[in-house]
Amino acid sequence: MAYKLLFVCLGNICRSPSAENIMNHLIEQASLSDGSADAKGDRILCDSAGTSSYHIGSPPDRRMSAAAVTKLGIKLRGRARQFQKSDFQDFDLILAMDQENYENILTLDQTKQYQHKVRLMCEFCSRHTLKEVPDPYYGGQEGFNQVIDLLIDACEGLLIYVNSQQAII
Ligand code: 4NP
Repeated sequence: MAYKLLFVCLGNICRSPSAENIMNHLIEQASLSDGSADAKGDRILCDSAGTSSYHIGSPPDRRMSAAAVTKLGIKLRGRARQFQKSDFQDFDLILAMDQENYENILTLDQTKQYQHKVRLMCEFCSRHTLKEVPDPYYGGQEGFNQVIDLLIDACEGLLIYVNSQQAII
């Protein structure tokens, strides 16, 4: 069974689609380097969503896409959708980009049975000390570039964590 990751921010056009695409990129790189390319895509599945309905159906923000190309050479794919309660059942781990996203997700879990599935993305960083992925939306291009750096760090840690979880299942 695949391990399913859901990345969540506010709009699902900047941070969480970047996290989803970076994670897919790292998974692909890892599967190519360890020779398990045939199983690529089956073991860990990634998706992203926003807590708001602001940008449903929109592609990633073009400033965010530019940063992903500049910093990592990848194109961001996907269309924004809103987080829904069924995501609690459908995913193994839900990664919130900031504290506000984290609290908004937990508020939707009225029965409090899924709280253990929700974590802050920056918990998985090893080189950065920031506790949240900053919202770049109202800032300049440098903020978008920093989001990519931070997410590469977090996704690398997350991949190690997921691999360790899968090893004990
Ligand atoms: P995201 O960034 O949550 O990383 O997708 C934002 C996108 C849109 C808005 C705020 C943050 N907005 O206010 O429309």
